Amino acid sequence: MLAEYMSSEEKRRLLEKILRERIDSSPRPAKIVQSLWKMPDDALLLEKQFRILEQSSGGQLFFAQSEGLNTNVTRIGNRTYVNYCSYNYLGLSGNEEVSLAAKEAIDRYGTSVSASRIASGERPLHQELETELAVMLGVEECVTFVGGYGTNETVIGHLFGPDDLILYDSLSHASIQSGCKLSGAAARPFPHNNWEALNVLLAEQRERYRYALVVIEGVYSMDGDVPDLPQFIEVKKRHQAMLMVDEAHSSGVLGKTGGGIGEHFGVNPHDVDIWMGTLSKSFASCGGYVAGNKELMYYLRYTVPGFVFSVGMSPPNAASALAAIRLMHREPERVTQLRRNANRFRDMAKKAGLNTGNSEHSAVIPIILGRSEPCVTLYRKLFENGIYALPIIYPTVPENASRVRLFLSSLHTDEQLEKTVKLISSAVK
Ligand SMILES: Cc1ncc(COP(=O)(O)O)c(C=O)c1O
Repeated sequence: MLAEYMSSEEKRRLLEKILRERIDSSPRPAKIVQSLWKMPDDALLLEKQFRILEQSSGGQLFFAQSEGLNTNVTRIGNRTYVNYCSYNYLGLSGNEEVSLAAKEAIDRYGTSVSASRIASGERPLHQELETELAVMLGVEECVTFVGGYGTNETVIGHLFGPDDLILYDSLSHASIQSGCKLSGAAARPFPHNNWEALNVLLAEQRERYRYALVVIEGVYSMDGDVPDLPQFIEVKKRHQAMLMVDEAHSSGVLGKTGGGIGEHFGVNPHDVDIWMGTLSKSFASCGGYVAGNKELMYYLRYTVPGFVFSVGMSPPNAASALAAIRLMHREPERVTQLRRNANRFRDMAKKAGLNTGNSEHSAVIPIILGRSEPCVTLYRKLFENGIYALPIIYPTVPENASRVRLFLSSLHTDEQLEKTVKLISSAVK
């Protein structure tokens, strides 16, 4: 063989030559429409709208850097603002006990579990957190994930397929819609909070599919309204559908002890097939969970890609969520105070003639002004006066429903609430 008489350098060069010839002679596509990634037209439009909004608001509206804790106050650019842009509903992010739990978890387990839980990433904290959540919800088991968005996407995407029907509320979070797409199921929105329309859709379509899933949220984050859960349960039972409830904004907020929309309505927790929630809001951490019966949770733990092929929650994240839930249970007055603050703010706003839409029971309160410009003007006025609340305009909401949206916290003081309502009402009149 010729190769036997070649030096290793000659062999390497020969191999390189053969590979190059192969690549050069491989067929090329005849016509390429677009070779490099380019911003799609609709994204360009969106970007332009964001830019106009940023310019007209007179400050850094997006990606504004908050320094220090993000509670009822926040520090932006050397000034302290009363803060209505945080989901820190119970003030537990920044709480000493919660932070200490995270620090101790780092000392004990490090900052990462470095692997999927199925393959060496399991720590006692994971199971303790899942047990705490399952007990809170009154169901058998729970599985936690590293993010709320990914939880919806991977769980819905994995459990359902082309033979199934998914009906989701028209104001559903993007993560729910993304899960629907991933699943390949026939997925359709039903009119917001309208269980009667859902009933009609299921009556017309249910028979054609294997499973039917209905997805609703405990509190809708644009409007702060709450669905009539008992009615949804009745409809799903009538049509033998499954019901999934996303409690991102209702956990820790609704119910006497913060148990969520199930506790708020006093329903049988087993009537909801999949309870879903995030750990990033009331529970002062980062992550998501689903909870329900043992069999379903067992199946997910061994098969759902976003769990099996992704790292387990980091020790400080698991520990802070666990400490936050335990603290919420030990100090239910935090939930009472949050409810009191939200109700007080809503009542004062309504008395001042402001439009808070359908917000009720929750800690999300929109001030709906209609067109976009007055919302940007209001944002600006509030910001100048030391109050931080962001405008939400078209295309995120319909053009005639633009608003400034406020997230209330148990930490807000009466004085802060009163000042804010006064300022808003004088600014919009
Ligand atoms: C209804 C709903 N579901 C899911 C998510 C995603 O949660 P996370 O931000 O924790 O990933 C959010 C986030 O705001 C949400 O509002």
